[in-house]
Amino acid sequence: MPSRSMLSSRSAVASAPPNIALVKYWGKRDESGNLPAADSVSICLDGPRTKVTMVPSDADEVIWNSERLAEPLLPPYQRVLDALRRPPHRVRIGVTTSVPVAAGLAGSAAVMAALAVAAADYFEVALGDPALSALARCGSGSAARSVPAGFAYWHRGALADGSDSFATSIAGPEHWPELRLVALFLDRERKLVSSTVGMRRTAATSPLYRRWVEACNEAAPRMRDYILARDFAALAAATREQAMHMHATCLTTQPPILYLSRRAVALLETLDTALPTDSWSATFDAGTNPIFLTLSQHLPDLVAALEELAPGIERLVARPGKGAALEAGQPGDTP
Ligand code: DP6
Repeated sequence: MPSRSMLSSRSAVASAPPNIALVKYWGKRDESGNLPAADSVSICLDGPRTKVTMVPSDADEVIWNSERLAEPLLPPYQRVLDALRRPPHRVRIGVTTSVPVAAGLAGSAAVMAALAVAAADYFEVALGDPALSALARCGSGSAARSVPAGFAYWHRGALADGSDSFATSIAGPEHWPELRLVALFLDRERKLVSSTVGMRRTAATSPLYRRWVEACNEAAPRMRDYILARDFAALAAATREQAMHMHATCLTTQPPILYLSRRAVALLETLDTALPTDSWSATFDAGTNPIFLTLSQHLPDLVAALEELAPGIERLVARPGKGAALEAGQPGDTP
C-alpha cells in the first residue's frame, strides 16, 4: 500500500460496459457483499461505456457527469475503495457515462466495474480478473459480470467472505460476432423499487423464491452450453423463460413488484405473431425496457418490426463487447 504522499499526484482511469443478464441475479445469500443466491450469465455490450477517473481529495466525493452525488449515495463506492485502502486515503471519483441512465441497462454495473479496475491501479494493488470481479461485486452485484470480456458466468460461490463469488468469461466477444442486442427505450422513468430493495423483499416474501433460485442454478450451466455451441434457438427460449420467471417471482412479492408495463408485454405478443420465434428473444431487467437478442441476419426484420410497433422510440443496437479495462489518463479527464 503506497503512502498518502506517494498517492498525492496519482490518478487512475478505467472504463467498463453494461451487461445484460440472460440468467438473472435476483436474490442474495448475503447482502453485505452482494453475494448472490444463484449463478447468473450475461453479455457485455460493445457500445456504451462508463469511464471512472480517480484523483486524491480531502474527502470522498463522486462527480457524476458533472453533478456531485449526495452523501447517502456514496456507500457502494466506499465499499469498493475500503477493500483496498487504509485511512486516510480519500478520493474524488469522476464518472462519465454514455449508458442511458434508468433505462434498464444496469448502469451501476458499468460504474462499479470501472471503479474496481481504477481503484486497484490507483492503490497499486495487483489483482487478477477474478479478484477484480469480486471487488466490483462489493459495489453492485451485477458489476461482477462487467469485468470479464464477452459472455460472463458469475459463480455464486459458497465462502462467507465472498472470495469465490466472481464472474469469469465463458467466451470472448469474438466467439459470436453475429449476436446482436437491441435495447428499446420505451420508458425513461426511474424504477420505483431499486434492485437491492426488490431482491430483499422477494427473498423474504415470495412463495416462488426458493424454486426461482433452483431454476437459476439449473439454467446457468445450460445457458453457458448454448453460448459455447452458439445455439441461438435454445438461448432465445431459455432467455425468455428466465426473464419471465424473474418477473413472475417479483409479482408474487409482498407488496407486489411490477417492473413490466402493459405496453412492453403487448409489444412482445405482437412480435410473436410477426417474426419467427427462434429468430429473436427478449429480456427485461428491473425496468420496463425490453432488450432484444437476435442474429445479424434477422436484425433488419426485427428493427423494421420495432419501428412499426414503436415508431420513433430510441433504440441501441450492440454486439458482445470487451470487459472493464484501464484507460490512458487524459489531463482533461481529471474530475
Ligand atoms: C435485474 O446488481 O443492480 O439487473 O447488487 O443490489 O446492486 P445490487 O443489485 P444489481 O441487480 C441487478 C439485477 C438485474 C438482474 C441482473 O443483472 O442479473
